[in-house]
Amino acid sequence: MREKDSVHVFAPATSANFICGYDVLGLALNEPGDEVLLKRVDEPGIKITKITGDQGLLPTDPNKNTVSACVKMILDFLGKKNYGIEIELHKKMPIGSGLGSSAASTIAGLFAINQLLGEPLSKNELLPFALKGEELACGHGHADNVAPSLLGGITLIRSYNPLDVINLPVPKELCCSIIFPHVEVQTRAARQILKNKIELKDAVSQWGNIAGLITGLFNEDYELISRSLEDKLIEPTRSILIPEFEAMKKIAKEEKALGFGISGSGPSVVAFTRGIESAKNITKKLKEHLKKNEIESNGYFSPVNIQGATVL
Ligand code: HSE
Repeated sequence: MREKDSVHVFAPATSANFICGYDVLGLALNEPGDEVLLKRVDEPGIKITKITGDQGLLPTDPNKNTVSACVKMILDFLGKKNYGIEIELHKKMPIGSGLGSSAASTIAGLFAINQLLGEPLSKNELLPFALKGEELACGHGHADNVAPSLLGGITLIRSYNPLDVINLPVPKELCCSIIFPHVEVQTRAARQILKNKIELKDAVSQWGNIAGLITGLFNEDYELISRSLEDKLIEPTRSILIPEFEAMKKIAKEEKALGFGISGSGPSVVAFTRGIESAKNITKKLKEHLKKNEIESNGYFSPVNIQGATVL
């Protein structure tokens, strides 16, 4: 493909862990997400000309911003050091929410520069750069947000070293209800509080559930998916950081959610449903519950996004 003068791309938000798959499972959402515009200019160098929707939280210094850092990584890798690029980032999702905000920016940047250059790399070839971008943005290189944001669908990170990412089948009616309660939970802090050692009986239960979930996805068996959406390892510790967690879980289950748990490292929570109407209803009920308890929130409902990063 030919090089372009400008591109406008979208990278979707993601929900990592899929309840029982800490650091190994993640899925993409249709919304929210981030948009990036890149423009070729004559003057060499990378400039950020505009960031919207970040409430002033993101760095505009091209050495510190994940989008510009990713653009630079690809230009350096391809030996195109004298390119002039102007970047606009439009954040259309909350930061620090457990919805893969930094991953969406990382992927939007990588995908956009690859498109601008006429697609010299495949999506899979962009993945190692995405891990580096995540590390830069939030201090840890986990692929369970960047992989689904880039590739779409549900992804399994079978191994980190070497990186082995597998796309799983997406049952047609699988949808998610997501609530982001307005409290702060830093991924770093949410990882530090986790226990380093786990009991064998809990490990047995967890790998049983992961295997059950994957089988359920292959067979489109919603009952099996539902039985498998249980987290013995992470939720008991992290849920303490999320207000009204148990009450929200009870409501989601009463409203026929297939499963309910923490989205990524939180504070967002996710309910998986069969059908979009059920997801919409649960989002409404959970938002109402939080409001009654004087907690503001953002609510989303979405099928699993299949395309991943796309040109707009
Ligand atoms: N799997 C990560 C965690 C989410 O739960 O900390 C962000 O990659």
